[in-house]
Amino acid sequence: MATPHISANKGDIAETILLPGDPLRAKFIADTFLEDVVQFNGVRNMFGYTGTYKGKKISVMGTGMGVPSIGIYSYELIHFYGVKNLIRVGSCGAIQKDLKLYDVIFGIGASTNSNYAHQYNLPGTYSATASWELLEKAKKVADKKGTHVTVGNILSSDTFYTEDTTEVETWAAMGVLAIEMEAFALYCNAARAGVNALAILTVSDSIVNNEVTTAEEREKSFTKMMEIALELA
Ligand code: HPA
Repeated sequence: MATPHISANKGDIAETILLPGDPLRAKFIADTFLEDVVQFNGVRNMFGYTGTYKGKKISVMGTGMGVPSIGIYSYELIHFYGVKNLIRVGSCGAIQKDLKLYDVIFGIGASTNSNYAHQYNLPGTYSATASWELLEKAKKVADKKGTHVTVGNILSSDTFYTEDTTEVETWAAMGVLAIEMEAFALYCNAARAGVNALAILTVSDSIVNNEVTTAEEREKSFTKMMEIALELA
């Protein structure tokens, strides 16, 4: 049974899924790391694939950019396809000076300027957090591989181009590490459904040090993050 945005049948999608923003990165991950790959979605070119990694069934699918887009896809994956572990693998802009290009970040929490959580009618401010189970497992994998990771709070912003020029330093003053645009919605959907989510990010640009990566550099450096995420199957 298809959903409005995913054309897969029940059982086509693994319990663990990697979620890059870019659907072509989903294709890259499937082509590079997975065996016995079957494409389960092509609706809106939001490519999704299921295959095996070291013998374990795992899926990968694009989410598009921003809270509304990942909100839709992750909701359907959880509620219509029974996905239990959702791991965002994305890029972020660092807002702390000591973070370097290609550094890997685990978002233990996601702050936001989005209204996504208003749908729950909570009488206060919700702290969206990663699944401890996934976070702990991912940290152990990173340690074993000798990959340095920084674990902390990230900002899921509704805007990439932001008129408020003080925003970055205000969030940085609260210890927020980096800005991306999706983790908050993913963490909310997972929490509400009682499943696991984690955002693993690679620093693609530094907003405070004014550094950017090239497309080619990103391709190579993202491999470190993928290899951690794939071990979570
Ligand atoms: N802002 C928001 N999302 C991002 C950024 C950024 O600077 N870099 C990579 N993803």
